[in-house]
Amino acid sequence: MTAFFSLAKSTIGKKAIMAGSGLIMVGWIVLHMAGNLLVFAGQDHFNAYAEMIQSGFHIEPALLWAMRITLLACVGLHIWAAVGLSGRNRAARPVAYAGGRKNHATSYAAEFMLGAGVVLLLYLVFHLLHLTVGVFSDDVVQHAAFSKKDAYRNLVVGVGNPVVGAFYVLANLALGMHLHHGIKSAFQTLGLNDDRWNPLKDALTRWVPVFTTGAALLVALSCMFGVGVLIEAPDLSWTPSH
Ligand code: HEM
Repeated sequence: MTAFFSLAKSTIGKKAIMAGSGLIMVGWIVLHMAGNLLVFAGQDHFNAYAEMIQSGFHIEPALLWAMRITLLACVGLHIWAAVGLSGRNRAARPVAYAGGRKNHATSYAAEFMLGAGVVLLLYLVFHLLHLTVGVFSDDVVQHAAFSKKDAYRNLVVGVGNPVVGAFYVLANLALGMHLHHGIKSAFQTLGLNDDRWNPLKDALTRWVPVFTTGAALLVALSCMFGVGVLIEAPDLSWTPSH
């Protein structure tokens, strides 16, 4: 245990924690985005998908909480390692580079990753309050009562708000760029950086962000412009969740 904690405190330990937690989150995001595309299959199919998640995948309700706790732990560890590593980088380079250049390419990438990470954290907090907890009921963001039973309507109406939709678009563009750099770094950290692994690394750094951001933008823009999404059976008996 002591060995584990001293490894976690080291630079390589923190990088491994970032890579491991990041890859688990990438897996979740790919599945989540694939599921979100079901919005184009219509209200019933999308709500059945949301209910499947809420019921613990129709296997065991506790699985939902196991998934949530795992993701929360990954977010926490990822941020903890990022803050530790960036503090170390700054301490190792207390003065700017000579010649008026403030940074070089790798520092730009590191600064960008931190900035995009902050945007994603803000997005995630908003997203959970918006579509999972439903705290924005009955106001300008949700326009109508939030209903746990109608994830489709919550999504189509909620993201249909132009300001919310624009935030979804920007955050998911940041997500794509974060994933592009992040997957590349994870391969490097895990030592998967030779001719055997490079084709897989190149494919994942390209196609994972294209898929996740492409799917997110498609869904968000469809909700904003009302294309391909239609609330077929508005149920006027919905009651607010609180
Ligand atoms: C356009 C992009 C996205 C759309 C349309 C979307 C849609 C949704 C919807 C409708 C729910 C609620 C599902 C339900 O009621 O069970 C949800 C939950 C969630 N989303 Fe997203 N999402 C998007 C992007 C993201 C991103 C980028 C992340 C992670 C960084 C994310 C993480 C989550 C999490 C953690 C939950 C909560 C699952 C739970 O614990 O019940 N989503 N999303």
